[in-house]
Amino acid sequence: MRYRTIGTGAVRVAAIGLGCMPMSWAYSASQRDRQGSLRTVRAALDAGCTVLDTADMYGPYTNELLLGRVLRERRDEVFLAAKCGLLAGDRHIVANGRPAYIKRACDASLRRLRTDVIDLYQLHRIDPEVPVEETWGAMSELVAAGKVRALGLCALEPRGRRGRGGGGPGGAVADRYARTLRVLARIQQVFPVNAVQAELSVWSPEALRGLLPWCEARGIGLLAAMPLGNGFLSGTLTPGGGFEPEDLRARHPRFTAEMMAANQPLVAGLRRVAARHDGATAAQVALAWLLAQGRHVVPIPGTKQEHWARENAAASELRLTPQDLAEIAALPPAQGSWE
Ligand SMILES: NC(=O)c1ccc[n+]([C@@H]2O[C@H](COP(=O)([O-])OP(=O)(O)OC[C@H]3O[C@@H](n4cnc5c(N)ncnc54)[C@H](OP(=O)(O)O)[C@@H]3O)[C@@H](O)[C@H]2O)c1
Repeated sequence: MRYRTIGTGAVRVAAIGLGCMPMSWAYSASQRDRQGSLRTVRAALDAGCTVLDTADMYGPYTNELLLGRVLRERRDEVFLAAKCGLLAGDRHIVANGRPAYIKRACDASLRRLRTDVIDLYQLHRIDPEVPVEETWGAMSELVAAGKVRALGLCALEPRGRRGRGGGGPGGAVADRYARTLRVLARIQQVFPVNAVQAELSVWSPEALRGLLPWCEARGIGLLAAMPLGNGFLSGTLTPGGGFEPEDLRARHPRFTAEMMAANQPLVAGLRRVAARHDGATAAQVALAWLLAQGRHVVPIPGTKQEHWARENAAASELRLTPQDLAEIAALPPAQGSWE
C-alpha cells in the first residue's frame, strides 16, 4: 500500500480508502448483507486501507452502526471520515447546518461508531438557510472539544442544483467548483480545511481544473468520491441490464442503456491499458489514474464486496506509464449528465 499525507497535520493515510456507502445506501439494496459488509471492511483494513468514509445519512444510521462493530476491534488502524449536515427523510434529503444540530449529530455519530473521536468530520451539504461560517464554527468547536480531529467539506450538491446546464461536458459543473472555491476561502478564515471530498474520476474529471490545484497548493486532501463512475468504469455493468428501483443509477442519465453503450469506449480504453499491466483490471486502472493526478488525492472506491475491496486496495501498487496516462487523457469525454 502506498501512502499520502493530507491536511495541516500532515496526517499519513493509505492511498486508497474504502467508501462504505454501498453497504447501506444508493446501490442494489437487495444485495446488502451485514455480514458480507463486515467482511468487506475487514478485508479492506487487512489490505492496508486506512480511510473509511461513512455518513450518518447512509442507511440512515445503519452504516455508522456497521462500522462501529469493526471500530470496536480495530479503531487504531482506521482514519475515520464521517459526515454531518444532511438528513435523509422519506424520499427526500435535507441539509441542516444549524450549530446546535451539528453538535447533537456529532454526539450521536460517536455513539453509533463506538469511538470517542472522528478523524475527519465533513460537512455533507451546505444549508442554504444558515451562513456556512456558523456551521463551520460549530464544527471547529467539536475539534476544540476533542470529539473531532480535523474538518472537511463535501463539494457535491443534490441533483438538479449543479448550475444552469448547457455549456458542454462539465460546463455547469465547472461553475459549481467556482462556488465551492469561494466557500472554501470563507471557511478557511474560520478554521482550517483538511480535506475536500468531490466527485473525481476518468469520466467526471472536472475537479482537476480548479479544485484539485487549490487543494494541492495547500496540502489539503482531495477524497475522490465515485472514483469508479458509480461502478461503470469497472466494465462489469451490462448496458440495458437494468437497476433496482431504489438504485441511484436507475435515474442517472449516464446509466440509460443508450448512454452506457455510448460510453463503452471509456471502458475499452481502461481495459487496453490494463492489458499492459499483468492481471490488472479496468477498475484498478481507473484508481491508479486518480493517484497519478496529485499527491494529495485519495480515492475512496465504494463497495460492499470483499473481493472488490481487495482488488481496489491493490490498485495502489499499479504505476501507470506516461503512455498509459496519455492514452487515458485522449479518451472521448463521457456522454450524458445530470445537467
Ligand atoms: N459526499 C458525498 O456526497 C458522496 C457522494 C457519493 C459518494 N460518496 C462517497 O464516495 C464513495 C465512493 O463513491 P460510490 O461508492 O458512490 O461510487 P464508486 O466507488 O464509483 O462505485 C461504487 C460501485 O462500484 C462497484 N464496485 C466497486 N469496486 C468495484 C470493482 N473493483 N469492480 C467492479 N465494481 C466495483 C460497487 O459495487 P457493489 O455495490 O456491489 O459493491 C458499487 O456499486 C462512497 O462509497 C461514499 O463513501 C460521497
